Amino acid sequence: MYILSRRYLPLLVGALVLAGASSLLAQAPKKPLKVGFAQTGAESTWRTANSESMKAEAAKRGIDLKFSDGQGKQENQIRAINSFITQGVDAIVLAPIVETGWDPVLRQAKRAHIPVILTDRTIKTDDESLFACFIGSDFYEEGRMAADWLAKFSGGKGSIVELQGTPGSAPANERRKSFADALAKYPGLKIIDSQSGNFERSGGKQVMEAFLKKHGKAINIVYAHNDDMALGAALAIEEAGLKPGKDITIVSIDAIREGVKAVADGRINCVVECNPLFGPKVYDTVAKLIGGGTVPKKAFNKDELFDATNAVKALPTRQY
Ligand code: AHR
Repeated sequence: MYILSRRYLPLLVGALVLAGASSLLAQAPKKPLKVGFAQTGAESTWRTANSESMKAEAAKRGIDLKFSDGQGKQENQIRAINSFITQGVDAIVLAPIVETGWDPVLRQAKRAHIPVILTDRTIKTDDESLFACFIGSDFYEEGRMAADWLAKFSGGKGSIVELQGTPGSAPANERRKSFADALAKYPGLKIIDSQSGNFERSGGKQVMEAFLKKHGKAINIVYAHNDDMALGAALAIEEAGLKPGKDITIVSIDAIREGVKAVADGRINCVVECNPLFGPKVYDTVAKLIGGGTVPKKAFNKDELFDATNAVKALPTRQY
């Protein structure tokens, strides 16, 4: 017994040291995942819901989220990404305010081996290796759904004014293009004016006031790239002594609770959904990427449409 223990003593000690070290390691608190999120700003109700979803889900998962509000400026978002790189985050999430001009800063992130997840909006680049993946809605499809709904509702006739989103942004570009593409099938539907209200309620109201001054009763339809601008336009229409939803048809995109309520109340005629609650999906993707897994390059949310036929029923369960 004595001989055995002397012979095996060094081994026994080694094993004990290893076991001790590994149990210490197991007890050591895991470092929380550090994620940088460069948000566009706070231009709309949709955006606020999107930021909330990202923040609440990070808190739930114990993720150390570095949140940056770009205040509607690309240069602020670029500055935020540079600072995330310096802070050594595990992943960067970017909701790009505009489509172009991202390559240099994304190259820096790539050099630092930090995966970049684009959410909500896409970018235009010749080098798709600069981002790991995209998660968001299909803006082109949303514009098409709005146009096809309108064609049926209006019987294919009417003069439309368009309230565009932020100039140069993917949703403004794609919702504009798909709506125009779809209208080509309906020659009786014409866009008589189109201007940006910057996705803001106040912007929608101001532009609609100008449209009403310029075109007066010639306007039958408003196509707004988001609900906030549609709600602003509805106010402008009311202030001009007309009834939104009756004298002037309104169709818009987002389906925020207030938008669906306006449809239920008959002030807006149709809203196409663009769901902003993708915090869980984004962090699942971050976890997969960091764990060395593969994810689809582009993942689109499934969106619905609400009009007089289903808005009242949908209202109680609207989450944003
Ligand atoms: O990119 C999504 C768009 O941006 C939403 O439709 C709009 O409300 C937001 O500000």
